Amino acid sequence: MNREPGLWPVKPERSRWTDEQWAAIAADGSHLLVAAAAGSGKTAVLVERIISRIADPERPLNVDALLVATFTKAAAAEMKERIRHALEEALERAPDSRHLERQLALLPRASVTTLHSFCLEVVERYAPLIGLDPGFRIANETEAELLRMDTLDELFEETYEQEGDSGTLARLADRFGGERSDEPLHRLVLELHQFAGSHPWPEYWLREMAGRFQVQDAADLMHSLWVRSLLQDARLMLQGAIHQLRAGLRLCGESGGPEPYADTLRDDAASVEALLSALENDSWTDWQTAFAGCSFGRLKPCRGDDYDPTLQERVKGFRDAAKKTVARLSEEWLVRSPDQYAEEMRLLAPDMEALTGLAITFGERYETAKRAKGLLDFSDLEHYALRILRDPASVPGHSVPSAAAADYRNR
Ligand SMILES: Nc1ncnc2c1ncn2[C@@H]1O[C@H](COP(=O)(O)OP(=O)(O)OP(=O)(O)O)[C@@H](O)[C@H]1O
Ligand SMILES: [Mg+2]
Repeated sequence: MNREPGLWPVKPERSRWTDEQWAAIAADGSHLLVAAAAGSGKTAVLVERIISRIADPERPLNVDALLVATFTKAAAAEMKERIRHALEEALERAPDSRHLERQLALLPRASVTTLHSFCLEVVERYAPLIGLDPGFRIANETEAELLRMDTLDELFEETYEQEGDSGTLARLADRFGGERSDEPLHRLVLELHQFAGSHPWPEYWLREMAGRFQVQDAADLMHSLWVRSLLQDARLMLQGAIHQLRAGLRLCGESGGPEPYADTLRDDAASVEALLSALENDSWTDWQTAFAGCSFGRLKPCRGDDYDPTLQERVKGFRDAAKKTVARLSEEWLVRSPDQYAEEMRLLAPDMEALTGLAITFGERYETAKRAKGLLDFSDLEHYALRILRDPASVPGHSVPSAAAADYRNR
């Protein structure tokens, strides 16, 4: 292939690939994220990328030196099949190539697998490194569920025994539980545990989330993640309302549309836009004032037979939806002052800490229980693989690759 200096190879003439596809095939030397619609050629591009590396005349690669991970087994099988097909085609064009012939022979043991199979391979290879008995087996979901239940029951029983009926757990059960069973709290702990498991540092994440409830005062709250995400939601909702009002306005202009409504809708949209720009200010009072001052006018009547009643109803529908959005925001969000919010968060903080603490303890006990039985679940595969690939010097936000990772990295 001919290469532009410092750039990737030039797309061959009359290539079937689009320019964007070619960029994804040829780009080299850095991390690359390709996001494209279903059926747009992602797999085709990846296969071409792989083949062009294998058949690169200057730096040919062996197919078993690559690591290709997919999410499902079916996708991995499809990928392997398509690589085989592409290799066969390449071999037809260069029938004398011993290298390509060899790649076809190597393909069956190439690492074209699911993410979980890859993790399994890592864990099997390096189990002793993390003190894991190499004789482990993957638990089926029912087995894992039963073990989780047993672990949780035991944890609750022991904690009640230690704390009595007026301890932290009883308080949590009261706050989050149902009338007479701990079932809702059980479920909450399990959900927290599971959700935290999708983060690379589950315990750190849980503690951090609980810590977010420790707001000192209103000023602190204004800079918190809570208010930022509230603002983001509010903006989205208001933008939605504006879209609805504009859609209504367009209907007013259609033939048979309720033209007399147009002025009011234009004013309505301007009011909501004013709300949106008030959210740019960092002041709760400004927001409250803006929402309090936002009013929707009266629609002028449509007299005569020139107006299609269906269009009238549709415009009213759009407008009602927009009104409802604004009302909901001001009723659910701005009725309380930031001081009140901060106070509520402070009151919740100890419970959140206790709840995440419970999820953490549960996680530790569940891991011990699995280890005692020589069992791993799917989430363990990911986390153990991560533990192996991450140097012990790693901290949240800064991962240092281990020696094992460096080995895989060469692929
Ligand atoms: N530039 C192109 N010219 C002609 N055909 C193409 C081009 N790019 C992709 N295709 C064809 O389009 C079809 C879908 O491509 P492919 O399966 O790679 O898409 P995908 O994005 O991986 O799909 P999915 O989202 O289903 O995984 C294939 O038959 C592929 O060969
Ligand atoms: Mg695909």
